[in-house]
Amino acid sequence: MLQIWGKHPLHGQVKISGAKNSALVIMAGALLCTDECRIRNVPSLVDVTRMGEILSALGVKLHRHGDVLDIDARHIGHSQAPYELVSQLRASFFVIGPLLTRLGVARVPLPGGCAIGARPVDLHVRGLQALGADVQIEHGTVHAYLAGGKRRLQGTRIYLDVPSVGATETLMMAATLAEGETIIENAAQEPEVVDLANFCRAMGAKIRGAGTNTIVISGVPSLHSTDYPIIPDRIEAGTFLVAGAITRSELILAPVIPDHLTAVISKLQSVGIEILTEAPNRLRLVPGQHHVAADIKTLPYPGFPTDMQAQFMALLTLSEGNSVITETLFENRLRHVAELNRMGADIRVKGNHAIVRGVPMLSGAPVLATDLRASAALVLAGLAAEGMTTIRGLHHLDRGYENLEGKLQQLGAKLQRVDVEPDATGETPPPPDQPSSLVSQ
Ligand code: EPZ
Repeated sequence: MLQIWGKHPLHGQVKISGAKNSALVIMAGALLCTDECRIRNVPSLVDVTRMGEILSALGVKLHRHGDVLDIDARHIGHSQAPYELVSQLRASFFVIGPLLTRLGVARVPLPGGCAIGARPVDLHVRGLQALGADVQIEHGTVHAYLAGGKRRLQGTRIYLDVPSVGATETLMMAATLAEGETIIENAAQEPEVVDLANFCRAMGAKIRGAGTNTIVISGVPSLHSTDYPIIPDRIEAGTFLVAGAITRSELILAPVIPDHLTAVISKLQSVGIEILTEAPNRLRLVPGQHHVAADIKTLPYPGFPTDMQAQFMALLTLSEGNSVITETLFENRLRHVAELNRMGADIRVKGNHAIVRGVPMLSGAPVLATDLRASAALVLAGLAAEGMTTIRGLHHLDRGYENLEGKLQQLGAKLQRVDVEPDATGETPPPPDQPSSLVSQ
């Protein structure tokens, strides 16, 4: 569990890692390549390790050195992704498109739901069927294959009922090696979709329109090797922007792509925080004297990202006035409300709305993380709270943030990860005075 001693200001510059949601899908995309691929700026995350295990189970050879990942998918052993690995990482469902379009068959267990919602994959399945695959779901496994002697998927026009990030990515990858042209309409426009498209284009795929709501893919017979750096993680960057804002600290973040953070920056500015673009890939956050309430509605990109909703809620608990936060993408992504209220926040949930009434302070308390971004929100609240906060459920945090506590310690935060339960007296131990040698780089 994590112990955080609040109300210590932060200062300095934080390095933003590669984007988790690019790394995961681009690792799956490497299955399209009958050559070796090199991916750079890959974050060290539990989810990335798990995706690596899935690829290895398929017969892919991986070699990781630092943030560089070499993937050799020349010889894919078979087309069945193992259940015990897929059930631990939803994103492993991304292998279905590449396996199907490359081998003509793919058997991938249905990814379970998770804490934030049911997470169906019907749009992935319907899209693959539109591309000419037969798809059966039996015993919890999606079995997709080319029947009737078909050698390749057939390009077609696909309209997505919702601009699903995952479905857009699955179908874009499947279409790269299909026969003819595929048009994906109402496609997701997230930067990670564009990153995947750029990775596939670097391997020779013909893709136009990524980043708009209409993506056109012209199939090619095969793809070749590439050496590709993935984009910085806009959600990690947004999380650190809120860390600076909630502790009223001036911070510098790099590398970032400011255009990927327009909605988050705009909302921070409306709360009263100044964000300066110091260089093309560097942001400086200058906190305001008074932070005021703001309304948030999560939407597909370029709207306010659902992955920043919990973190921003933590900030709004201490802003003057009432904020209304509406979560439109996932049906169960307000579970951090109860934990924030344990810290003295004043939040009421009505359906998919959270009404946040600003309070003058939060107080440290033992809290439980329920999902990845909720755990980040609790860390942020702990940085601002009076006294000590202890957070359990750190496995959520480790899935999506590379060395979060090391980066925060380096900025001056007082927190530490302890394996043992705190002493029974319940006394609040003093903050650890980390000698500089302990502060991780
Ligand atoms: C991706 O999930 C991200 N994960 C999520 O990040 C992110 O929250 C989400 O996109 C939205 O931006 C990865 O990229 C690995 P969706 P994904 O398909 O693809 C419905 C994080 O914290 N839907 O865009 O699963 C679905 O129920 C994670 O890093 C269908 O109905 O999201 C949801 O309501 C959490 N049928 C909505 O679309 C489908 O077939 C958006 O989901 C697929 C989705």
